[in-house]
Amino acid sequence: MTTMQSAVGLKVPKNLGEKIISLAHKLEIVNKTLFIKSQSDHLLIPLIRQPNENELSQLKDIAPQLMLDKNDEVFVEKRPAEETLDHALKRQLPPNLHSSIPHSFDIVGDIAVIEIPSALNNNRYKDVIGQAILRTHKHIKSVHAKAGAINGVYRIRDLTYIAGENRTQTIYNEYNCKYHVDLAKAYFSPRLSQEHHRIATLVNGNEVVADLFAGVGPFAVPIGKLCPKTRVYAVDINPDAVELLKLNVKINHIENQVYPLLGDARELANSKLRGIADRVIMNLPETAIDFIDAACQTLKPAGGLIHFYGFTRKPDTIDNLKTRLTSAIEQQHRKITAFNFIKNVRETAPYEQQIVIDTQIH
Ligand SMILES: C[S@@+](CC[C@H](N)C(=O)[O-])C[C@H]1O[C@@H](n2cnc3c(N)ncnc32)[C@H](O)[C@@H]1O
Repeated sequence: MTTMQSAVGLKVPKNLGEKIISLAHKLEIVNKTLFIKSQSDHLLIPLIRQPNENELSQLKDIAPQLMLDKNDEVFVEKRPAEETLDHALKRQLPPNLHSSIPHSFDIVGDIAVIEIPSALNNNRYKDVIGQAILRTHKHIKSVHAKAGAINGVYRIRDLTYIAGENRTQTIYNEYNCKYHVDLAKAYFSPRLSQEHHRIATLVNGNEVVADLFAGVGPFAVPIGKLCPKTRVYAVDINPDAVELLKLNVKINHIENQVYPLLGDARELANSKLRGIADRVIMNLPETAIDFIDAACQTLKPAGGLIHFYGFTRKPDTIDNLKTRLTSAIEQQHRKITAFNFIKNVRETAPYEQQIVIDTQIH
């Protein structure tokens, strides 16, 4: 953001600008917090005060045509060098704790979510960290600390408020889509943004897509936006997630493409969604394997695609995950005709990876 400030200006011809600037600095009359202005054939130097008679005559010895502009000219303010979080915390925390200073945190809209290392996990240090984040990241308005792992059927993490505005709702922008998010009520991770976009770019034409674990809609919404002829059935068992999803469908103007459904994926696969989908998205990595029956029931009898997300925890391997998926699909009397894409999407914990497997099913 540019901020402006008015000040007395010293108007000098450009060809004498360097000499005048140097003398004005010696006389300590230059306002160093403001930028010098360049106008057609002269410069306007911002001053902290008017020069006295003696100073003015020294300046006029160099540039007789120099003029004092007392009409409070407006200048652009120089921004002070921005402090990093690391610097801010090193100034405030004792040296023996410097090795524990956190170097990163998640940002969702204007909310920061940080993992506090155990050495700093007390109210005093949490406050220091929270305030330092607010000071060094001006767009962040609220800071929370992770207070446990993602857990429960709704896959939500407990958070502890530490600084700024005490709220967990925000608006998040990703690839031209807008999301209302509430980190205390429904799952959301900005770390999957590339994956959300990748899947949306694979969908084409008038496909029917079933997003069985849709959350607030980060897979369903971009598909709706990018593919106007596609219909997406977006299911979630968490009523708060579905309320947010409905809002997100509305603000992204995709009411005719994306249909939010509150309920259990397996029940809906057995009823409303049976045999309708060309493509099924299964982002419930902890237990997606237990819902392969639901995914297969949702697919059209002729088959289609499943985007399956799962975890591997060392010594488990991607090959083991492929074997488990293949066996679960064969138990449903379906066949994998191709593995289109397999990728380690992200590290979710030490020795734990989230893997995506795109499979073609017949
Ligand atoms: C890991 S989150 C993923 C949400 C979303 N796809 C995303 O990427 O942000 C999994 C979601 O599945 C939902 N869920 C869990 N069990 C379910 C079930 N049996 N039927 C439908 N949704 C379920 C949870 O409420 C949660 O919102």
